[in-house]
Amino acid sequence: MRIAVVHGPNLNLLGVREPDVYGTATLDDVNRALESLASELGVEVECFQSNCEGAILDFLADVRDRAGGVLINPAGLGHTSVALLDGLLAIARPFVEVHLSNPAARESFRRRSLLTPAAVGVVAGFGVDSYLSGLRCLHNHLCRLRAPGS
Ligand code: DQA
Repeated sequence: MRIAVVHGPNLNLLGVREPDVYGTATLDDVNRALESLASELGVEVECFQSNCEGAILDFLADVRDRAGGVLINPAGLGHTSVALLDGLLAIARPFVEVHLSNPAARESFRRRSLLTPAAVGVVAGFGVDSYLSGLRCLHNHLCRLRAPGS
């Protein structure tokens, strides 16, 4: 089983970007932690980050044939991008939305995510653990979908 991991705009700056909000772990740290958990779970992760909406949409379309699900931190695009929602709906793969911070506890414009209604679920507010919990939950969800008789 392969799970695609998508990091949206500005997450390449993790570690230096507002560390009081997003923590001090870098994107490489996050990806390494995901890879280590993935090997424990017996799955593969394919991690992708871009600051360009179009590049993320192209990645989603490309990964469709090899990924059973998507773990996504849409970053700012989650609050604004119908195109990202459409891209996720188009590939018809279950996805879990994650956030390092808790957007609901921040500015009002962060309280709405266009993706959430279509997500299997959301994990937010736990820093890198949001990603790790999200991966575990998505993995369990995909295993349940694959179980005989389900
Ligand atoms: C974020 C929260 C978003 O509101 C913000 O635009 C981000 C990061 C998070 O991980 O907490 O870029 O998705």
